[in-house]
Amino acid sequence: MTPAEQSLKAAEICRLAPVVPVLVIDDIAHAAPLARALVAGGLPALEVTLRTPAALDAIRAMAEVPGGIVGAGTLLTPADVKAAKAAGAMFGVSPGATERLLDACAEHDLPLLPGAATASEIMALLDMGYTVQKFFPAEQAGGAAYLNSIGSPIPQVAFCPTGGISLTLAPDYLRLKNIICVGGSWVAPKDAMVRGDWAAITALARQAAQLPRG
Ligand code: 3PG
Repeated sequence: MTPAEQSLKAAEICRLAPVVPVLVIDDIAHAAPLARALVAGGLPALEVTLRTPAALDAIRAMAEVPGGIVGAGTLLTPADVKAAKAAGAMFGVSPGATERLLDACAEHDLPLLPGAATASEIMALLDMGYTVQKFFPAEQAGGAAYLNSIGSPIPQVAFCPTGGISLTLAPDYLRLKNIICVGGSWVAPKDAMVRGDWAAITALARQAAQLPRG
């Protein structure tokens, strides 16, 4: 899958809702009810970070939930890409980009949302054909003001910013022309998962799904 084809697919997925939940799943038993709660609240695209031993099994379980489009986040190596694809991930997300990682996504047909944080990184990915990129870590790297400025010289890249974004900060990003969606973990707080309070997570998802886009 070429970078341009990957970005077309990534754009389709990012357009499904204003927010992509970024999920850190410790307990595999949480995976399916969490996916059902988020989908019920109007957030179908779900990013499961490969940061816990349960992550790949969580992707497998969540991929079975009707209406969910499950992807793998924190892809760092070709082995991560292969494992994510085998677990049923429909897309991938990475904090940055290396040649080996990009080659693996092309080889395994995994649409990647590659991470970038500087003008040169954004330009390098654009050169390859990636017109949809993750901006990470969004708040720490300059936030909405930075992305607004990048949109002047490089309007052809659409971003999904993640890192430090909350319900309160999300509208600052979503009103920009070069933002396709935002990512964040605030819709799936760990304490609610531990309590099994799936209704609370659906309520957070519903709030996020109703955020206006510019
Ligand atoms: C991440 O990769 O952790 C995401 O950027 C989510 O960041 P957040 O937890 O600050 O929303």
